[in-house]
Amino acid sequence: MGIHVWYLKSASMPAGLFVLAAMAFCLVACRPAPTANAQSTPEPTLAPYQSKLIEQDLVELVTNDFLSPVLPEDPDQADYGEEPYYLICMACHGDWGQGLTDEWRERGFGDESANCWQSQCHGSNHPELGFKLIKTIPPVLGYGSMGRVSNAKELYKVIYETMPWWDPGSLSEAEAWGLTAYLMRARGEIHADTSLNVGNAPIYRLHNPAPELVDERPGVAALLVTLTIGMIAFVWRKS
Ligand code: HEC
Repeated sequence: MGIHVWYLKSASMPAGLFVLAAMAFCLVACRPAPTANAQSTPEPTLAPYQSKLIEQDLVELVTNDFLSPVLPEDPDQADYGEEPYYLICMACHGDWGQGLTDEWRERGFGDESANCWQSQCHGSNHPELGFKLIKTIPPVLGYGSMGRVSNAKELYKVIYETMPWWDPGSLSEAEAWGLTAYLMRARGEIHADTSLNVGNAPIYRLHNPAPELVDERPGVAALLVTLTIGMIAFVWRKS
C-alpha cells in the first residue's frame, strides 16, 4: 500500500491513477501465458483411420506401434488401468475403445481374424480352451457408448463382475478400479488425479464432462485491482 499512499500525496492525481491502472493492467496481462504442454511434440500427421476415429469422439488408448505401456513415475489410479487394458481388454474393445469393429479386426488382427466366428474358433463348437463370443462387442469410448452405465460405481461393477468376457471375476479390485478410472479419464469424465473408491464412485457420472478446474488467479488479480482503484477514488473524492 506504500505506493498508493505516495500517489495520494502527489499533486498530479490523474497521472498517479494512470500509473496505477497501467500496473493493474500488467498484473493481469503480464502473467506468464499458460504453457499448453511442456512436453508437447509437434503434431504428428494422422493416418486416415485415425482421423475417422477422432470424428467418432474416440481416443487413442494404445499407440499404433502397439508397444506395451510404461507406468509413469508418479502414477495416478487411471494409469494403473493402462496395462490391463492393453493386455486383456484391447483385443475385444479396440485400441481406440471402438469395440470389435471390422476396422479394428482388420487392423489389429490382420487376416487370421477375417472370420472370428467361424466354426472351431469362437463359433458354437469352440475348442475346449476357446469360448463362445456373442457377435457384438460394444465400444467403451465415443458418442453413445455405454448408454446403460450411469456412474463410476456401475462401471466398476460391470468390469469387476462381468469382464473379461471369457473369464469374469478374474480381475483384482485394484485392476478393476484402475480400468474404471482409465476409461473415464479417456472419456473426459474424471480428471487425471481423481481416485475412485466405493465411497465416492456414485458421484462420478458417465456422459457428463469432468467438472471444470477453475484457475482462480485472474479473478483474484481483477478483484485486487478493482478494490485498489475503488479505494483511490474514495480517498480522492474526500480530499
Ligand atoms: C473376449 C472379448 C472381451 C474382452 C477380452 C473384454 N470384453 Fe468387455 N465386453 C465384451 C462383450 C461381448 C460385452 C457385451 C456384454 C453384454 O452386452 O452383455 C462387453 C461389455 C463391456 C462393457 C459394458 C459396455 C456397455 O456398453 O455396457 C465394459 C465396460 C467392458 N466390456 C469393459 C471391459 C474391460 C475393462 C475389459 C478388460 C478387463 C474387457 N471388457 C474385456 C467382450 C469382451
